[in-house]
Amino acid sequence: MNLRLDKYLADFTELTRSRAKKEIREGRVQVNGETAKTGNDKVAFSDSILWDGREIRGQKYQYILLNKPTGIISSTADDRDETAVEYIKKHSPVVLPSVPEYDGKSVFLAKDLFPVGRLDKDTEGLLILTNDGGLAHRLLSPRHHVAKKYFVQLDKNLDTTDVEKMRDGMDIGEKRLTSPAVLEILAPREAFLTITEGKFHQVKRMFAKLGKTVTYLKRVEMGTLVLDESLAVGEWRFLTEEEIQNLASSG
Ligand code: URA
Repeated sequence: MNLRLDKYLADFTELTRSRAKKEIREGRVQVNGETAKTGNDKVAFSDSILWDGREIRGQKYQYILLNKPTGIISSTADDRDETAVEYIKKHSPVVLPSVPEYDGKSVFLAKDLFPVGRLDKDTEGLLILTNDGGLAHRLLSPRHHVAKKYFVQLDKNLDTTDVEKMRDGMDIGEKRLTSPAVLEILAPREAFLTITEGKFHQVKRMFAKLGKTVTYLKRVEMGTLVLDESLAVGEWRFLTEEEIQNLASSG
């Protein structure tokens, strides 16, 4: 794929398109060892592109796993609350040996990242951020039935009949009953719940239907992606190639 040099810089750094043009005019950008003269030049991902001597690595898509803390919201813009995208921009990632090193100097965060689905402000756990609309669609589309697993704590004891009710589907005020869900009771007031839909406040509404209030909620899995213990609450990292490949075939 060939891109204009000014667009490449604007897409893969913090520069705006006009600042990128200015940097090029001032001779601060090199392509394959030659000082670039105009933003019209076409470049490819295989070219070596230096801005002020720093190599800028272009990535069409980025895939991020955030262990979302409570207090931040997962929509893309909000006047009052901090969004997940704003949050990751303020915090450095956890670097894995299997992922190209991110240092904020040669690899910048994509400008068009968005969260894949929603987690409530008071919910913790697995949130994917990407700019790959195709993957997001695949993971969210009801047709694909991608499983989402949550760890839940409740204000009242669970009952073994709750397992059947969750499995059989419940009327939570939607057009249809909820799809079969898997409830695994871990302790009197603790469980995993796996659902394949993503209705607004779905987990809380399903437990409310059973007469219980969710006191703590954390997403631990989405499709093949697992939130492992190595990522503490509030930490984030890029997904590995293997995780990306597996997610693409989730559902
Ligand atoms: N269900 C909920 O009720 N809240 C969430 O954040 C996610 C699923």
